[in-house]
Amino acid sequence: MSLERTLTVRVERISRETPEILAFELAHPWGRALPGYEAGAHIDVHMPGGFSRQYSLARAPSNAPSYVIGVKRELASRGGSASMHERVREGDLIAISTPRNTFPLREEAAHHLLMAGGIGMTPLLAMAQALAARGASFTLCVFARSEEHLAFADALRDPALAPHLRLHLDQGDASQRIDLQALLAERAPGTHLYVCGPGGFMQAVRDAAAGTDWPEDALHTEYFAAPTDANTTTGLPFTLKLAQRGISVPVAADQTAVDALHEVGIDIPVSCQQGLCGTCVVEGDGEGAEHRDFCLTGTERRSKVALCCSRAKGLELVLQL
Ligand code: FES
Repeated sequence: MSLERTLTVRVERISRETPEILAFELAHPWGRALPGYEAGAHIDVHMPGGFSRQYSLARAPSNAPSYVIGVKRELASRGGSASMHERVREGDLIAISTPRNTFPLREEAAHHLLMAGGIGMTPLLAMAQALAARGASFTLCVFARSEEHLAFADALRDPALAPHLRLHLDQGDASQRIDLQALLAERAPGTHLYVCGPGGFMQAVRDAAAGTDWPEDALHTEYFAAPTDANTTTGLPFTLKLAQRGISVPVAADQTAVDALHEVGIDIPVSCQQGLCGTCVVEGDGEGAEHRDFCLTGTERRSKVALCCSRAKGLELVLQL
């Protein structure tokens, strides 16, 4: 059962970060504290027009009397980012969820390598600030087209981040560019890699890490959207075995597990419905699942399943429901 609540917050400030990205600062309408969170967390924003989107919190928790999110206006916006850019104004009240974290820092890491592409900076900036505050070992690699397209540039100028920052500008001097293959070719023991950005950037980092000695559990990703070639809805029919209830629920080829469970009166909380946010994740036989999510780690996939998108490898999938 999800413990998330819906909150009403006031849009305190809107600032332009780049030609395509606005930062929104959200505060309690009566000045009260907002719920705490961990670096890497995101919130659902319920926006005008009935859209709901997930946005990462772009500031370390210890600095947070309010929440800050960055919203990139997508050219192919289905309404979400366009609604935030065009219809939301300072002083407006909007509904959000309490923060949820599917992209946490790993306490066991000896070094944290943070790779941010464009708007993917938001969760990684919060992580970098949190790591700097605790004196942890980390490197923040930021990739942007140019200075003009560098979001949260003021925060990056913080002297606490400067020694850890590597900035790659596509249109900048060749000497400052980061060679992904070279950067990821060798993994210092205990290093964890965190990646967030547009689909092409995510794939480029994953490709560079493939064939090297990065174990699956040391590679952490946060997607803003499912890759365009991802199928997160249909497949072969199978049966859900609900261990706690002792019943079976058929899932049709054109149905998700969430839909099939809803038909028999079992409602699984959902948000993104693309395998991104982790809202629909339940305990189960992860080894028997065809995982189609983008939020669970290799270890988590052994015992958890994202029901909005994942299916059974075979004819059955056992869930702890
Ligand atoms: S609803 Fe977001 S991962 Fe399933």
